[in-house]
Amino acid sequence: MILVTGANGNLGSATLAALHARGVVAMGGSRTPGEGVRRLDFDDHASLDLTGVSTLVLVSAGYAEDDQVIARHTAVLDAAVRDGVGHVVYTSLTTAGDHLGFALAHRATEHLVRASGLPWTILRNGLYAELFGALLMRAGDGVESAFGEGALAAVPREDLAEAAAVVASDPAPHGGRVYDLVGTPITAGQVADGLGVTHRSISLGEYRRRLLEEVPGLLPFQPPMLASIATGVRHGFLGGTGPDLAGLLGRAGRDPLATAVAAASASRGA
Ligand SMILES: NC(=O)c1ccc[n+]([C@@H]2O[C@H](COP(=O)([O-])OP(=O)(O)OC[C@H]3O[C@@H](n4cnc5c(N)ncnc54)[C@H](OP(=O)(O)O)[C@@H]3O)[C@@H](O)[C@H]2O)c1
Repeated sequence: MILVTGANGNLGSATLAALHARGVVAMGGSRTPGEGVRRLDFDDHASLDLTGVSTLVLVSAGYAEDDQVIARHTAVLDAAVRDGVGHVVYTSLTTAGDHLGFALAHRATEHLVRASGLPWTILRNGLYAELFGALLMRAGDGVESAFGEGALAAVPREDLAEAAAVVASDPAPHGGRVYDLVGTPITAGQVADGLGVTHRSISLGEYRRRLLEEVPGLLPFQPPMLASIATGVRHGFLGGTGPDLAGLLGRAGRDPLATAVAAASASRGA
């Protein structure tokens, strides 16, 4: 049986949907169980029963400090070894993301996956087109960002979900492989053009000040994480393309610009 964690999250639910669309039987695991979804909370070790799971799609449980994320992933991988899971597919972070503030937890998890002794595949996911669009800030009639002229090889989540489904449906040929799943480069200016507005670039200092002083509800780790994405894009570290996504999908990736424009439009309340 295939089990996809984070089944109520965006990537986990889309991966389950992609598996079902391919006619593959798969279950979800989530902190919030429901039909076809068993309870699986990485913070509650008693819930980590993976007996009968042939392929585990471990969707990273980010949005926390490194120690917490790594402890979660350690717990689920320990359970996978204990319960005899046949293959682990881990959704990691693109190789070019090594400079990002949340890279360490992904790379540490990759070490854990390799050390588990289980057959594995690592999907190094590029940054979501949805995220790029949502990070543009409305300002009067236009949008602002600290991305400058930099490009991001953004990927629509749907493509990453489909790639995960391709691997999980038949994992053996993908054993021991690391796939770098990036899309095609887009800029904040292009997203603004798609919205029919102008883009104004702000400095990294101004961006960090706004995150710290003006955005309600951010957790302490989030301003440095978001600032690291901005500087990475702005200075050209995240725009590189590669063949792995199209190779897994058997087609070109979806247009990240349309997805980013839709996300920017939604987050601007347009
Ligand atoms: N590549 C990118 O641009 C990008 C951007 C943001 C995040 N990410 C990473 O990719 C992951 C999936 O992205 P997403 O868009 O699906 O995020 P999302 O919609 O916010 O979902 C967050 C995920 O974390 C899971 N999770 C959190 N705490 C958990 C716990 N204690 N035990 C088990 N699962 C837990 C949630 O599972 P349930 O709610 O079902 O329990 C959910 O799948 C994120 O968690 C993050 O690590 C990547």
